[in-house]
Amino acid sequence: MDTETIGEKDWSELQRNLEATIPVYDRINRFATLGQVSKWRRMVRDRLPRDGRVLEVGCGPGSFAEEFEGKELVCLDPIPEMLRVAEPRVNESRKLNGFSEAIFVEGKAEKLPFEDNSFDAVCSLFSFRDWYDKRKGLAQVYRVLKPGSSVVIVDPAKINKIHGFLGWLWMRTWVGSYAKIVCKQDDHPWKWLTKTYVHFGTTKDYTKMLEEVGFVNSRAKVIFPGMATIWQAEKPEKASKTKK
Ligand SMILES: C[S@@+](CC[C@H](N)C(=O)[O-])C[C@H]1O[C@@H](n2cnc3c(N)ncnc32)[C@H](O)[C@@H]1O
Repeated sequence: MDTETIGEKDWSELQRNLEATIPVYDRINRFATLGQVSKWRRMVRDRLPRDGRVLEVGCGPGSFAEEFEGKELVCLDPIPEMLRVAEPRVNESRKLNGFSEAIFVEGKAEKLPFEDNSFDAVCSLFSFRDWYDKRKGLAQVYRVLKPGSSVVIVDPAKINKIHGFLGWLWMRTWVGSYAKIVCKQDDHPWKWLTKTYVHFGTTKDYTKMLEEVGFVNSRAKVIFPGMATIWQAEKPEKASKTKK
């Protein structure tokens, strides 16, 4: 595992562990983020168009998608069980709010099963860190976005090494102890959160990667040090093929 890639064996293990978090996902997420996660999700919602076709990559159990008030939503995840849990949750909420049903698709960021230039925005919350090839995934996001539209990503990047160490301590002790109690097992799946956090890069690593893939105006804001950075970038109006 490094800042760009996760090996096949580690990724399969990570996915098994992510699946095991489903019953406790929202509860532990709220605890780990000191209740801030809803605020961060709102920040992403505010950056997305209400009228266009929006894709969420790595929708998990639907925690973000449930509250997204946009006309057309497509949710993608590689874990069928995540989609099975997310679909009724998201679509019941959309129905209550008068929106059309969201579409759920099994797939990976690195091989998006969509046509070129077919989305008005793409977002990814707490999933980018888990992509096994982040550069390839971003190149795919670029490909499916319409020229001029945005990608918005949230994940916990580090500012530097010291900061990374403090984040690791937080995940390991505070989040780890709570997860152990909630999951009622020593070898709880949340341990993988610490692993992916340790190997995830800095905020700057990914602003640079976005530019290298072809995006313009790549920018980031550390929303909560060590817990959430929000990145945004646009596919140029006169877009060329991805550079890498
Ligand atoms: C922690 S959940 C995030 C759930 C949700 N987006 C949220 O806001 O809380 C991360 C999700 O990313 C998905 N994921 C992991 N690797 C992926 C990849 N290569 N492409 C797309 N999704 C991936 C996992 O299956 C998992 O459901």
